[in-house]
Amino acid sequence: MCALLDPFGRKLEYLRVSVVDSCNLRCFYCRPSHACRPHSVRGEMTREDLVRVVTAGQAVGIRKVRLTGGEPLIRRDIVELVRDIAQIPGIDDLSLTTNGTLLEKLAAPLSAAGLKRVNISLDSLEDRNFEQITCGGKLQSILDGIDAAFAARLTPVKLNMVVMKGLNEHEVENFARLTIERDIQVRFIEYMPMLGQEETWQRYYLSFQEIMALCKKIAPLQLLPEETLSGPARYFRFQGAVGTVGFVTPVSQHFCADCNRLRLTADGKIKPCLFAADEIDLRPALAVGADLKPLFTEAAARKPANSETSPAARGATCGPLGMVEIGG
Ligand code: 5AD
Ligand code: SF4
Repeated sequence: MCALLDPFGRKLEYLRVSVVDSCNLRCFYCRPSHACRPHSVRGEMTREDLVRVVTAGQAVGIRKVRLTGGEPLIRRDIVELVRDIAQIPGIDDLSLTTNGTLLEKLAAPLSAAGLKRVNISLDSLEDRNFEQITCGGKLQSILDGIDAAFAARLTPVKLNMVVMKGLNEHEVENFARLTIERDIQVRFIEYMPMLGQEETWQRYYLSFQEIMALCKKIAPLQLLPEETLSGPARYFRFQGAVGTVGFVTPVSQHFCADCNRLRLTADGKIKPCLFAADEIDLRPALAVGADLKPLFTEAAARKPANSETSPAARGATCGPLGMVEIGG
């Protein structure tokens, strides 16, 4: 089995694939208002090209793929895309991050096509608050989507909540309580400073310690050691609870040392690091049918040791792109 190693000895096995750069919601922290558009502007890749990229990635060592956006479920051919990628031998984990709005209808066909599990981004369990944060989204559609994900066994279902001071911090408790009776992984995400949003960030940022303190109001949390070893989240459980509570802390605690991922942007560029502007454009090679494997090797070679300084200290992150184009 081939391994894709970077200069720091990290084994890159995980490719996050942004399949579309637009979204049907407008979470205020994610989409700068000028980017509110119903359709892709930078142009999305064809399904055939996406399959070629993932196949090449697999040949050099990628075995885990997550589809992201924008909102991946607004792609018309998302079910076919999942089917094609699931059929690539050696891709043994295929998941998707979604805002959940279209999941009620799509969970069953996606599962039948070979999708293993979903992460659902949800920042509020209150109708009005949800509507405000997402600029008009309807909470019920996401709740129905979550039920559909369970019914289609897209498990473990993870709920990702970006916690923001004064906006949804009062809901942390309600989110955490969901894990007591339901086999759900609620993950609290520190709000990251994105391009041009430093002021908003300073106003709304809440640290891991502050979010943790809110959870501990319910009951003590026990650290789950086995789960802390994989991925960027640390997981905890309330005693006797079925589900788990996780924390993703890109600002207060870096996880660069264990980073195993590369990203593909919606317009066909590999990003070695979310916090760096560097990109390797695959489109010229795709256009002439050239081998893509060397470009993966190059992306691995260009992976930085870490995001240099904390994103908090640096202010703007992500190079010229916003989160909606990179897929979180
Ligand atoms: N900080 C933290 N998470 C963010 N996301 C989007 N923007 C930010 C930010 N500034 C999250 C979304 C979703 C994922 C795609 O990225 O809420 O969970
Ligand atoms: Fe869409 Fe997710 Fe961005 Fe919200 S955070 S606008 S759901 S891509």
